Amino acid sequence: MTKNRFSGKHVFIFGGNSGIGLSAAEEFAAEGATLSLTGRSQKTLDEAAEKTGALTLQSDMADPAASVAAIKAAVEKNGPIDILFINAGVGGFAHVGDVTESFWNDVNNVNLKGAFFAAQAALPHLRDGGAIVFTGSIGSVLGIPGNVAYAAAKAGMRAVARIYAAELAARKIRVNVVSPGPTETPLFYRNPGMTEEAIEGMRAHMREAVPLKRIGEPREVARAVLFLASDDASYITGVDLFVDGGTVEL
Ligand SMILES: NC(=O)c1ccc[n+]([C@@H]2O[C@H](COP(=O)([O-])OP(=O)(O)OC[C@H]3O[C@@H](n4cnc5c(N)ncnc54)[C@H](OP(=O)(O)O)[C@@H]3O)[C@@H](O)[C@H]2O)c1
Repeated sequence: MTKNRFSGKHVFIFGGNSGIGLSAAEEFAAEGATLSLTGRSQKTLDEAAEKTGALTLQSDMADPAASVAAIKAAVEKNGPIDILFINAGVGGFAHVGDVTESFWNDVNNVNLKGAFFAAQAALPHLRDGGAIVFTGSIGSVLGIPGNVAYAAAKAGMRAVARIYAAELAARKIRVNVVSPGPTETPLFYRNPGMTEEAIEGMRAHMREAVPLKRIGEPREVARAVLFLASDDASYITGVDLFVDGGTVEL
């Protein structure tokens, strides 16, 4: 049976033109949502618009003023926001001795600061009774060598989400985190400083580390996002849902 959980709902996605965000956009569109989504690459924004019918906005989530402007444009076109999905994120590996201030800032400006201010930008335009989902990472709770900047940012984001959940409970807005394990998206190929061989080695290592012995598909994460965004999760707020083939818990 086809579900239609988001008919008449305005869903806004930060980072909806690739990987998990694009998959979620497709799933939301298939269930009747009116979509607005951001990203940086105009090419993939155009492709996402074609696939989902979304209003697409080129916007850098590292810049809080840009997030305010993107939200304003989306609300003018599509009305108040029912569901906010803060998914944009960047990767990158460096061992603690090699982390530069600019690398640290590049990761944190998007994954932590950017995520916080993206949610803040939406606050006045979110309908009471709505929902926010953040994309975290299992990296926030694992001691993976080389992952310090990313892990710190995602752990910070998880803390931020908890406070949003506490403060927005009075407005009946539920706030949750979906934390993917290794998922087959372009993020794998964007790790600065990693050779093809190193990426392939990382992929094999990750596959082995996952109890289900495979890397996840974007759609498997997207479905968890839609669950938490929907009324199916009406009594769930403040959680961090690991979608990771059992990596963290087993
Ligand atoms: N793939 C995994 O194994 C994995 C595991 C754990 C967590 N995650 C998290 O999942 C989320 C989605 O990543 P993905 O795996 O789907 O990778 P992806 O395909 O690279 O998607 C990342 C998305 O974020 C957007 N983005 C990045 N920086 C941005 C910025 N400064 N402003 C606006 N948009 C920005 C990208 O848009 P552009 O392409 O236009 O830059 C793209 O839409 C991220 O938060 C990531 O940390 C992924």
